[in-house]
Amino acid sequence: MSSMESAPLPPQASEADDIIQGVLTENKSKFKTPNQIGFYRRQKLLLPGQSLYHAQLDTFKIDDAGASLKIIHQDTNVPYQLQVIALKGGIVRLKIKEFSPLKTRYEVSDVLIKETATERFSVSKQESDNVVLDYQNGLYKLHIAAHPFSVTVTQEEKALLSINSQGLLYFESGVSSPPGSVATEGDIDAPQDSSKEEFGLWKEESGDRSLTSVGLDFSLHGFEHVYGIPEHADTHRLQDCGDSEVYRLYNLDVFGYSVCNKMGIYGSVPLLLAHKPSHTCGIFWLNSSETMVETHYKAALQTEFSQAAPVTRKKKAVPMVDVRWMSESGIVDVFLLLGPAPQDVFNQYAQLTGTQAFPTRFSLGYHQCRWNYEDEADVEAVDSGFDEHHIPYDVIWLDIEHTDGKRYFTWDPVKFSDPLQMQKKLQEKKRKLVVISDPHIKVDPNYSLYAEAKEKGFFVKDRNGEDFVGTCWPGSSSYLDFTNPAVRDWYSSQFALDAYKGSTDALFVWNDMNEPSVFESPEMTMPKYAVHHLSWEHRDVHNLYGFYQQMSTSEGLIRRSGGQERPFVLTRSFFAGSQRYGAVWTGDNKAEWEYLKISIPMLLSLSVAGISFCGADIGGFVGDPEPELLVRWYQAGSFQPFFRAHAIRDSKRREPWLFGEGNTLLIRNSIEERYTLLPYLYLLFYRAHVSAELVMRPFWVEFPKNPETFGVETQYMLGSALMVAPVLVPGVSSLDVLFPGPKELWYNFRNYKCIKGQRKQKVGVTLDEIPVYQRGGSIIPMHTAVGKSTGWMEETPYKLHVALNSKGSASGELYVDDGHSFKYQHDRMFIYRHFTFQKNVLSCKSAKNTGHFSRECILKKVLVMGLKKMPSEVNIISPGKEKTQVTFTYSHKLGLLTMESLSLDASADWEIHIVSSC
Ligand code: NOJ
Repeated sequence: MSSMESAPLPPQASEADDIIQGVLTENKSKFKTPNQIGFYRRQKLLLPGQSLYHAQLDTFKIDDAGASLKIIHQDTNVPYQLQVIALKGGIVRLKIKEFSPLKTRYEVSDVLIKETATERFSVSKQESDNVVLDYQNGLYKLHIAAHPFSVTVTQEEKALLSINSQGLLYFESGVSSPPGSVATEGDIDAPQDSSKEEFGLWKEESGDRSLTSVGLDFSLHGFEHVYGIPEHADTHRLQDCGDSEVYRLYNLDVFGYSVCNKMGIYGSVPLLLAHKPSHTCGIFWLNSSETMVETHYKAALQTEFSQAAPVTRKKKAVPMVDVRWMSESGIVDVFLLLGPAPQDVFNQYAQLTGTQAFPTRFSLGYHQCRWNYEDEADVEAVDSGFDEHHIPYDVIWLDIEHTDGKRYFTWDPVKFSDPLQMQKKLQEKKRKLVVISDPHIKVDPNYSLYAEAKEKGFFVKDRNGEDFVGTCWPGSSSYLDFTNPAVRDWYSSQFALDAYKGSTDALFVWNDMNEPSVFESPEMTMPKYAVHHLSWEHRDVHNLYGFYQQMSTSEGLIRRSGGQERPFVLTRSFFAGSQRYGAVWTGDNKAEWEYLKISIPMLLSLSVAGISFCGADIGGFVGDPEPELLVRWYQAGSFQPFFRAHAIRDSKRREPWLFGEGNTLLIRNSIEERYTLLPYLYLLFYRAHVSAELVMRPFWVEFPKNPETFGVETQYMLGSALMVAPVLVPGVSSLDVLFPGPKELWYNFRNYKCIKGQRKQKVGVTLDEIPVYQRGGSIIPMHTAVGKSTGWMEETPYKLHVALNSKGSASGELYVDDGHSFKYQHDRMFIYRHFTFQKNVLSCKSAKNTGHFSRECILKKVLVMGLKKMPSEVNIISPGKEKTQVTFTYSHKLGLLTMESLSLDASADWEIHIVSSC
């Protein structure tokens, strides 16, 4: 699609620059503090104590769909319906809503992938003031108390989790905002008068609508560690909020966000996980309006639940975490994910919201981005620069200025006059292009995309039913209403190759500014009164806007290939379920050490909330990194799921070869290391896709019984086999590294030296590399060489790094497919191999769920680390073939066996027998 010739000129350079400069000025006061958030202030007036909500147990009903009963608020007499639903697989869903709401409330629909099959509760006890339900044959019990209403989930008579035990259930049911209690629209910095102060009401929040916020408290018994609820630039383990802090989940465009901060930034996943050595569980609060979450750590007396009444044991105090959720609208719809192991919780969450989309192989390579690559000549020069400096890379990115006046789906007629030729050249080098496509559409009747969307009524509306108009990069813009399925369908169709002029199947997409960002509006986002499809207010769906845009873009890329090809879409804004549509990055960080440091907990929090394909801008977006920081960031990023360097407009150029030969070498080394690891990474993503396993993992997930690991956020695991300890501060010559144990062995990834687990150890570091260790018991598949891009490496030979555990065994896998299509899914076209090392035999067999695919997979090299004795001979035994002897070397010092000149087919069965003379 191209803008017509008569189109008015884009904003003059100076006007556009003013818009950009205005936005790029840090202005923290643009964003609300918690005490400027009306519904939060109102809910905070309710203090813990006796709840006024009482359950009427004479209304209790149970059937295959679950249990239900009526709850009444004692002062207002408003009746509510509680539904408790037992889902298969360890999930209990609780819904609370009014019997007769003044206005229908929004219920999030498209986030859940399908209705999960239900189980029937059985009633194990029913009395006038309490009911006990058995779930999973009595493994868990739900104790529902009537006066006041509360629910406690127990396991073996011990409380695991209670609901409304602090009495903070809160349901605003049609209480209108008091007349005159509204502040002036947008007046968020001005002091309010006392009546407004009391309610904390802002006109843009409440107008003259009725108040509809909901809230509920949970107590997690015996827990001292809670995680999740991204996105915050804060620690991985959630902190105690004390008296004045609260985690905010409200998608906002926060340029150069502050670190160690609980304010809302680009995305929200309302999933909180709690972990202790004996149990992991999760709370998934399905609500897409602005949400606040308070966490408090405390000690409480242990309560035991016998068949009779609950007994509070006076003896010992146990740790507990209180969690309070508050949302501005919607209903209470909450899923309790009962675990008990970390992976069970990930499976339960994936059962509800889906797993990570399986990425194309190229997207696991290195991405080179900058705001902007100026024109086609610039793109060509950067692309050739990678070849000249022998650095692999897969994708070059184009930011907003590649378009004709910020009209997405168009090209700047001068700077990008021949986009097809540009993509052809990239394609010849087996490389790809990603272009930006934002949700704001320039108001310009001559821009066909705008004109068509306007005519079809596809924009979000203002209060008067007119198209909402706000300012973003192009100047005046309207915003596509992605909550409308017809809009999504139409937007998807814009990616068809014949609709999107100048695009090819080597072009993929980046969705930015989709919180959505509206420059002049309160908090730089869409006002809450804006109106969406089916008359829902923006306040109801705010946190879903970016989710829906990415859904529609990803669907568009699939459709343009006739359903054959996997898409790649990066989004800045996201919600629960966004993992199904692509990758997420952490937005506008800064080129400062503390941003490198915070990127680790930020990515870990995204990962535990289902979003495995995540990364931070390498080098830091805002500012100019010093070379040491840049090198350290590449070294960390090469062991993270999404690996893209990006830099702000007008920053100094940052291509990897611009920092002197020594630094070029270091950056090249870390990118090359990434490319040799591709087989392992691709396997991890396959496992994330099919089994909800995390790619980047916090230590607590891998060492769930070892409390020493629960607070670690400067180190992490990549899969279960690699431990990464990035260098996060300048000028260090050593690093304190925790080697979890006690039974673990850790092998230095580069020199294969072994360290025993269960201790912190100082390890020496140079600028050459960051410490990485392979865990004993694992086998990692890698490539023996790198190419210009992943496309050149499809048949690059493999090597295996076999790291033995203390029992002398190890296992691992290799997954291979065409790297880009859905044939792995539709036709089971893939190779899936399982390696084991046991009793001195390395065997290669088909994995249980293998498919059928033909691709050369030559295994050239095998390293075995931790082999105690030097072999007398090593033989290969393959079915139907003569036994052959293999040449090898052995290092006594390291216990390292190296077989270099193999030529084994990794897609066939064989064994390598290591024979010792005595
Ligand atoms: C904001 C994004 O976070 C940044 O990555 C991008 O370069 C600018 N928008 C311009 O599109």
